[in-house]
Amino acid sequence: ATAAELPARTRLFARGFPSDGPQPPARVVPALALAWRTVVGEVGPALGLPASPGPRHPSDDLLERRYRVVADVQEHYYTAPPQIERGWREYLMDVDGRVYLDMVNNVASVGHAHPRVVEAATRQMHLLNTNSRFHYGGITEYGEKIAATLPDELDTVFFVNSGSEAVDLALRLAMAATGRRDIVAMREAYHGWTFASDAVSTSIADNPFALETRPDWVHTVAAANSYRGAHRDADAARYAPEAVADIDRIVAGGALPAGFVCETYFGNAGGVALPAGYLQEVYAAVRRHGGLAIADEVQVGFGRLGRWFWGFQEQGVVPDIVAAAKSIGAGHPLGAVITRREIADRYRTQGYFFSSTGGSPVSAAIGSAVLDVIQQEGLQDNARDVGAHLAARLEDLGTRHPIIGRVHGSGLYLGVEFVRDRETREPATAETAAICDRLLELGVIMQPTGDHQNVLKIKPPLCVTKESVDYFADALARTLETGW
Ligand SMILES: Cc1ncc(COP(=O)(O)O)c(C=O)c1O
Repeated sequence: ATAAELPARTRLFARGFPSDGPQPPARVVPALALAWRTVVGEVGPALGLPASPGPRHPSDDLLERRYRVVADVQEHYYTAPPQIERGWREYLMDVDGRVYLDMVNNVASVGHAHPRVVEAATRQMHLLNTNSRFHYGGITEYGEKIAATLPDELDTVFFVNSGSEAVDLALRLAMAATGRRDIVAMREAYHGWTFASDAVSTSIADNPFALETRPDWVHTVAAANSYRGAHRDADAARYAPEAVADIDRIVAGGALPAGFVCETYFGNAGGVALPAGYLQEVYAAVRRHGGLAIADEVQVGFGRLGRWFWGFQEQGVVPDIVAAAKSIGAGHPLGAVITRREIADRYRTQGYFFSSTGGSPVSAAIGSAVLDVIQQEGLQDNARDVGAHLAARLEDLGTRHPIIGRVHGSGLYLGVEFVRDRETREPATAETAAICDRLLELGVIMQPTGDHQNVLKIKPPLCVTKESVDYFADALARTLETGW
C-alpha cells in the first residue's frame, strides 16, 4: 500500500476479512457481533490503533439495572439472557430481531399475542375492569365454561390470580371442609410460593432445605417416579400401596388428614406419568380416613396432555378439589379452584372469600377467550398429534445418544431425561445446563427441570406446529452430535 496522509479527524471505516473461512456480512446484529469478531479478528491493532473494547449490548445496562432494583431471588432464565420484547404464536423475538422458538412456555398456552385474546382483553379494558365483588356477566359465563370441562359434581368455581393462590385456597378448602389441618403431599413437588402452597412443596430444585423445614402439619409420601427413585419401571406399582401404608401410619400417629395433594401427572419431574392406578389407590385411602383429594392441575391440565383435558382423567379418578392456573390465562394472572358445592360452602367457617382481581371482568374475558381458542382451534388435538410426532423424534434420538435415558410425557408435556449412565441413571446435570445454553445459541428456548435439573422440560404453546417441533428436534440432534 502507498503511504498517504489523511486530514486529521477523517472518519475511517475498516473491515477485516479472514483469508479463508466464512466471509462476514457488512453489518451484523449485536447478538452475533462477538462471534464474528472471533472469525474476523481485530482490525484496530493492524492499523496501529488500540483494540476496541468489544461490542457492548444495550441490554447489558438493562440487566444491571434489573439487578439493582429487582430482588435477586426473583429469577430469570439464562446467565446472559436475550432481551425478549415480542412474541407471536410459538415464537419469541429479542430486541435485535432474532427469533427464538419457545419450547418451554406452558403459560403461553394458546401462543403469544393470540389475536382473540388480545381483542377480548382490549375490548373489556375499554368497557370495565373492577374488583370481582361487582355483578357482571363475564365471571358467570367463564365459570360455566370451566365447570363444563369437568365432571358434573365439580360444579363450583373460585377465581384467584395464580397457581400458588389456587393451591393455597385448595388446601384451605380441604381444611375448612374437614375441620382438620394436616395435609399429605407427594415429595419432589412444586406447588407455589405462598405460605400453604410452599409448605407442601418439597422439590429440592426450588428449595434445597425443603424436606427438613416442613411445618408439622405437612406429611409426605414418596415421589411416585417410575424412572428414578426407590421403585423403577415395572416396580413402580409398589408406590401406591406404600403411600397407602404411609397414610395409614400418619393416621395411626394421630394426624387425621384434611387432604392429599399432588400433581396428577408428575410435571416437576419432567412429565412422568404416575404409575397406573396410583391415584385410585391413594385417593381411596385418604377418603377412607375422611380426607379430600386435591389435584394440582396448574401445569398439566387444560388440554396439554393431548389425550386428556385434565391430568386426573389419565388416572381414571375424580378429585374433590382441582387447582388450575398458568395456561388458563395464557400469561394473564388467573387461577381457578373448582370443587363440589358442599365443599365450597364449608369455606364459610373461615369467613368470607374474595380475591379482588381474581376473575375480574378482564380476567374473565381473557379466560373465556383462551378456553374458546383451545376448544375451537383444536389445540388439545394439536397437542396430541404434534406431541406424538415430537416424542417419536426424541425417541429416535435416544437410539443414537446414550445420554438420553428416557423420553417422558404425553401430548405437549414431554421430558427428555439426560443421564451419564443408563444403568445407574446418574443424572447428567451439568450436561443438561450446557445443552440448554447451546440450544439458545441455535435459537431454541429450553430449560432444565426435576430435582436433579437433568430433564428438558418441553411444554411449548399448544399451537406449536410440526415444522417448529422438527426445528427443535433438529437443533437437539445437532447439539448432541456436535457437542455442547
Ligand atoms: C404444579 C405447579 N403448581 C403450582 C405452581 C404455582 O403457580 P404460580 O407460579 O402461578 O403461582 C406451579 C408453578 O410453577 C406449578 O408448576
